[in-house]
Amino acid sequence: MDFFEVASSTPTMRRFLDRPIPDAELIKILETANMAPSGSNAQPWEFVVVRDAAARREIQRLYESVWGPYKDSAIIRGRTTLSPRAVKALKTGDEFAAQLAIVPVHVVVFLDRPKMRVERGSAADLFNFGATYGSVFPAIELMMLASRALGVGTAMTTMLTSKEAETKALLGVPEEYQLIALVPMGYPADAFKRPMRKPVFPRLHDERWTRAWPTPVAPPDK
Ligand SMILES: Cc1cc2nc3c(=O)[nH]c(=O)nc-3n(C[C@H](O)[C@H](O)[C@H](O)COP(=O)(O)O)c2cc1C
Repeated sequence: MDFFEVASSTPTMRRFLDRPIPDAELIKILETANMAPSGSNAQPWEFVVVRDAAARREIQRLYESVWGPYKDSAIIRGRTTLSPRAVKALKTGDEFAAQLAIVPVHVVVFLDRPKMRVERGSAADLFNFGATYGSVFPAIELMMLASRALGVGTAMTTMLTSKEAETKALLGVPEEYQLIALVPMGYPADAFKRPMRKPVFPRLHDERWTRAWPTPVAPPDK
């Protein structure tokens, strides 16, 4: 697939087929993720590939236990103003949480804290969070793009970080690693679509902040 087609058709996949991903494809995806840049080339990522059905169910249960209260609080917050779009998003979130039991692979991404040489929660950590988290998310994005190129759907999710202790206990992950994201991975039950994004032009500045990059004028329809 052409890179630009991959990059502009990698939406968050929320419905999956119950069909395994061959090992060779999985390795190709993870080796591509491993090409990501990181601060000082620390490469502080660790990927736990979960395919065991019982473990996947448990991850789904943990995710749902965070999603449920999150959804309830969203409903309470927006009681008088919940837009049709928000209602739809909450329904999609419900379906997605349920789908996490079906998706054949969960890649759970951890940050190797000692490699970053900043203590978690310290002032340096808060000051440096761009370098710390920014050293893992490019690998996640590459994982998603490589998956898309092979026809595999993914989602970047961070909700499970609220259940870090439980997830680490489930997967036997040592204390010094920090849970960063859960990336469910599977063949899609929905079409890959173009992500909905606002145009880039109002956010493009030409040399200086105050000089807007002119929005190109679309050619008139013939
Ligand atoms: C850092 C980050 C964390 C996210 N966490 C979650 C999550 O926990 N659950 C979820 O359903 N989606 C999560 N998403 C997906 C976003 O909701 C999604 O990317 C956004 O709505 C745009 O939709 P699209 O990717 O389909 O274009 C996350 C995305 C990012 C970048």
